[in-house]
Amino acid sequence: MKIGLLGHGIVGKGVREIIDAGATWEVRELSVKKILVKFDWELVDPRCTQDAKDILDDPEIDVVVECMGGIEPARTFCLEALAKGKHVVTSNKKMLANSCGELFACALAHDVAVHYEAACGGGIPWMASLDRTRRVDDIDGFRGIFNGTTNYILSEMASGGKSFAEMLKEAQSLGYAEKDPSDDIDGFDVKYKVALSCVKAFDVIPNIDGILTYGIRNIDQVDLAFCEKNGYACKLIGKAKRDGARVSAMVMPAFLRKEDVFSNIPLNFNCIESVSKTLGAATFVGQGAGSLPTAHAVVQNIVDIWKKQDPEINPKDNVIVDNSTYCGVFYIRSANIDKAASYVDKEAGECAVVTKRMTINELSEIVKDLNDSGMFVAEVAK
Ligand code: HSE
Repeated sequence: MKIGLLGHGIVGKGVREIIDAGATWEVRELSVKKILVKFDWELVDPRCTQDAKDILDDPEIDVVVECMGGIEPARTFCLEALAKGKHVVTSNKKMLANSCGELFACALAHDVAVHYEAACGGGIPWMASLDRTRRVDDIDGFRGIFNGTTNYILSEMASGGKSFAEMLKEAQSLGYAEKDPSDDIDGFDVKYKVALSCVKAFDVIPNIDGILTYGIRNIDQVDLAFCEKNGYACKLIGKAKRDGARVSAMVMPAFLRKEDVFSNIPLNFNCIESVSKTLGAATFVGQGAGSLPTAHAVVQNIVDIWKKQDPEINPKDNVIVDNSTYCGVFYIRSANIDKAASYVDKEAGECAVVTKRMTINELSEIVKDLNDSGMFVAEVAK
């Protein structure tokens, strides 16, 4: 089966390497025919081209693998590939989370499929496990550490005492981070992954703007000192729950009890748990980012296509995310913290408090009132 690769960065190179190496008989059935690159200096392989048409118009290419990142031109290329009857495998959560309705509809109309294991959970077979669980069970919800970069930053800040800026640089040099680091550190990358997990888990396409999102950009050693003193570890958590027709979904740093399995997930690992009716909780841990683990997930999807194992996708569009009934206790550190006096349960340092139990809507109001671009917010586990 012949593959056209759109993009030859960290993930694309990994896909080419795994397929060229052909370690198993399944992989030896695959070959990368052409590779789209952006710059002249990337024309390092005779298969490289700078013209997407060489891939999209090639009738011998059965599968287009998109790992360019960004929304355009990735979205347009995927739509063109599907319309020409080619299956699409993508690792691009930003593009897919923003365009999955039209991509799935286009795939359905042309009797091909969109596969996206690598877009969520890196090398962990998280999407595949949701597909499998759903064949038997209704999934009630999931929560997870979905971002390798921020887990690396948080774990290493906690154990090594280094600053946020130092650790971000290190994660970027290890090839974990997105091109725009704000996607990682402001929680958007997790938001896209939560949205795609909702598609698989609940058969809905949520409005991604409704997924409440706080990141770790402003985390400081004082916040981690509070965690250490009180028996918590800080992790960036994405989660969603279905309650009848309603879906709640959010991304937020969480201060978790040290005995919580998520507290001990090190480095760039991801850890994601689904909860379903008869299976109960099932937890998956593995490499959440990096060239070969992510490429492994892409190649798994290509093997699925070769074996004609297409997932059934028929999600309902535009399901409104509704967090209005969600309640919690939150840690807030802000230079303006005095403005939040009426919500305080206890002081948590010079400029930080732990709030009384409140709704997410109340928290959003406080965050708006504090109006502080340097603020850090986290949910505190019971
Ligand atoms: N930047 C992402 C992460 C890459 O750090 O998890 C994998 O999706």
